[in-house]
Amino acid sequence: MPHELRLAYTVPKLDDFSLASLKSAEAALYDALSAEAKTVQNEEQWRAFRDRWIARKNGILTQINDLWLKAAPNTGKKDAGFVVNRIRKNVEERVSNIQTFVLSGATEAQHEIELPASAWERFTQDLKAVRLERERVDVTLPGLHRPLGAEHPMLKTMNEVVGVFRAMGYSVAEGPEIETDYFNFEALNFPPNHPARDTQDTLFVAGQEKKPQRDRLLLRTHTSPVQIRAMLATPPPIRVVAPGKVHRADTADATHSPIFHQVEGLAVDTNITFCDLKGTLDHAMKSLFGSNVKTRFFPSFFPFTEPSADVSITCFKCGGKGCRLCKMSGWIELLGCGMVDPNVFKFVEQNGYDAQKISGFAFGMGVERITMLKYGIDDIQLFYQGDVRFLEQFA
Ligand code: PHE
Repeated sequence: MPHELRLAYTVPKLDDFSLASLKSAEAALYDALSAEAKTVQNEEQWRAFRDRWIARKNGILTQINDLWLKAAPNTGKKDAGFVVNRIRKNVEERVSNIQTFVLSGATEAQHEIELPASAWERFTQDLKAVRLERERVDVTLPGLHRPLGAEHPMLKTMNEVVGVFRAMGYSVAEGPEIETDYFNFEALNFPPNHPARDTQDTLFVAGQEKKPQRDRLLLRTHTSPVQIRAMLATPPPIRVVAPGKVHRADTADATHSPIFHQVEGLAVDTNITFCDLKGTLDHAMKSLFGSNVKTRFFPSFFPFTEPSADVSITCFKCGGKGCRLCKMSGWIELLGCGMVDPNVFKFVEQNGYDAQKISGFAFGMGVERITMLKYGIDDIQLFYQGDVRFLEQFA
């Protein structure tokens, strides 16, 4: 005949996780355990008894773990953990005792779980001792030393560069690192399929083939798209610098990283000339590398500037005599720049950029490169490895 367990007992939810409340809940549970244990007379009944109490899925122990321990507020967790662990031990012991009893063929389960008052006393005292110990303060201990964080050397340079231009009245603009083909290339006068795109080693977002080319997403290869975004947001005159992260499909080595940083600059107004560009960058380089450095502008090409130039500074290490840093040339090539190509203004003319009336210049520089030169760092990878021994030298 199948055995009916008396299922009167259900695990109560606790609102109160104080020791007193846990204690009475524990006692009630042991009462139920004893009452049920007494009815177990054979192996089949023992199995049902076992499952009801210790089954992993929804056994009473599992419920207790959820309702009495997990539900306990953080302040009561220690007490609840203590009690729940002890219940687990007692219940498991009880279940295995009953098994022994059933297998031995005896007729009545007699094991009671005694919970003498003294046991509670001890438990409570232990807890008190633990709490007191936790509150102990040794006033003779030396204070905790919390090392201060420091700016990453690259961020430091980036802030420095931005600071130099802010002092000249530039504001700061930002753009997304995931860009569209339109902003990264087309509006910067890289026509579709133009070979100049090949120099950028672009990382494209996959699965974009169905979109028109201008809408396809890519990781921006330079900060120049922020030029377009800034001009769309602000009519002329405009002076902005745009610091940020850029990506190119380059293999990492001592001077290349697929992720690096640039600071872009753009100034547009009436009557801006190449002289303004030269004066501005000459001042910026002197601020960054020392008032002794001289700048040199060398013809170059970018689709979005015309004319374009690469800027070199005299080697700040040897003063131009020639050393290892400047590869014996006396000059260090630092950035690209030029006068904004009128074709670029066409893409933003709806916002007041009329190439007949205004002109401007733009420049872009690599932050890692500048930082490496400034501090004599010979491996770009050091910036990304997070080695505290490297970083703390710049604190
Ligand atoms: N965007 C160019 C590059 O990444 C640099 C540049 C910016 C050149 C602005 C001219 C004007 O190489």
